[in-house]
Amino acid sequence: CSKPLVDAFNRRVTYLRLSVTDRCDLRCTYCMPERMEFLPKKDVLSLEELHKLALGMIDRGISKIRLTGGEPLVRRDMVDLIAALGRKLGDGLDELTLTTNGTRLAEFAGQIAAAGVKRINVSLDTLDAGLFRELSRRDKLGAVLQGIAAAKDAGLKVKINTVALKGLNEAEIPFLVEWAHAQGHDMTLIEVMPLGEVEGDRVDHYLPLPAVRDVLEQRFTLEDSDHRTGGPSRYVRVAETGGLLGFITPLTSNFCASCNRVRVTATGELYACLGGAEKVDLRAALRSDDPDGNLSAALDEAMRIKPERHHFRIGAGEGPAQPRHMSMTGG
Ligand code: GTP
Ligand code: 5AD
Ligand code: SF4
Repeated sequence: CSKPLVDAFNRRVTYLRLSVTDRCDLRCTYCMPERMEFLPKKDVLSLEELHKLALGMIDRGISKIRLTGGEPLVRRDMVDLIAALGRKLGDGLDELTLTTNGTRLAEFAGQIAAAGVKRINVSLDTLDAGLFRELSRRDKLGAVLQGIAAAKDAGLKVKINTVALKGLNEAEIPFLVEWAHAQGHDMTLIEVMPLGEVEGDRVDHYLPLPAVRDVLEQRFTLEDSDHRTGGPSRYVRVAETGGLLGFITPLTSNFCASCNRVRVTATGELYACLGGAEKVDLRAALRSDDPDGNLSAALDEAMRIKPERHHFRIGAGEGPAQPRHMSMTGG
């Protein structure tokens, strides 16, 4: 690559999380309010701009791209972007993947696999149709399960992402682990983060993952594993199922020292940290008279401002939620 992206703390950035839309066909209660205000479509990057931005970042050493949202597959032209970026696999790009809620996977899984995507992460917090409706405010569990099955049939490796929620899916977590592993999927548990205002209070449902791990250990043998996926998840192998179980612990165990990523919103703002306000405007660079030069300069600036760590806190003494919802930056 022309010049690697290295931040002020000597961390090499190789992983781009690229949000292609802030829109979503679900309304998970911990993620967004029912009446979420979405970005005007005219502000969102075009397919060509997303492609150009990704190529510019691959040129600066990005080797893993994860497409996120909102829900990436609500954008009709997404399979075209996936196909275009798939052509960079083996030519600068090592991994192309996406994080999806699964509702539209039944339609798109085949085309995603054909583009060279090997594995995807699918969010699923419960297998109970009633609780799914309560948590996501939509009646789409059936579509998600069909989507996950279609992904597997298409040859995609699926990882299930589950946000651990006290008093909601808490009791179901051991069963979810068994179910995911029985289907051949790995799974990752996530601590809920204070990102953007929602109707309820996230504190009420915050479940620290060390407590979940204790409960799981009464039922399963959890063996340390050095499996890594390039994200913040730390894995164990469940001896009884043979499957991998990951833990993403932004609140109970900070993982920022090994941060290798930046995220870009659908309007082309690069946020140097999920939990911070530090950003650079890549859209302005892309739309300028020297897109390549200005994009590269903006990326240098991003490396200068990337903060050392996030400062999420939840519970007593917590300040207001960080104003940006997860759906802006895709996590
Ligand atoms: P893998 O490639 O499978 O490791 O995926 P990933 O964990 O990097 O991506 P995914 O989109 O599945 O994200 C899972 C959860 O991790 C989401 O809730 C993200 O918001 C969260 N996450 C990813 N990167 C960061 C980060 O840098 N900081 C924090 N706090 N959370 C992150
Ligand atoms: N805290 C933690 N995880 C969240 N997600 C969405 N909002 C939050 C939040 N506030 C999860 C989704 C999905 C992943 C991309 O992020 O459930 O699995
Ligand atoms: Fe949509 Fe994902 Fe947010 Fe749920 S968590 S509302 S699926 S963006």
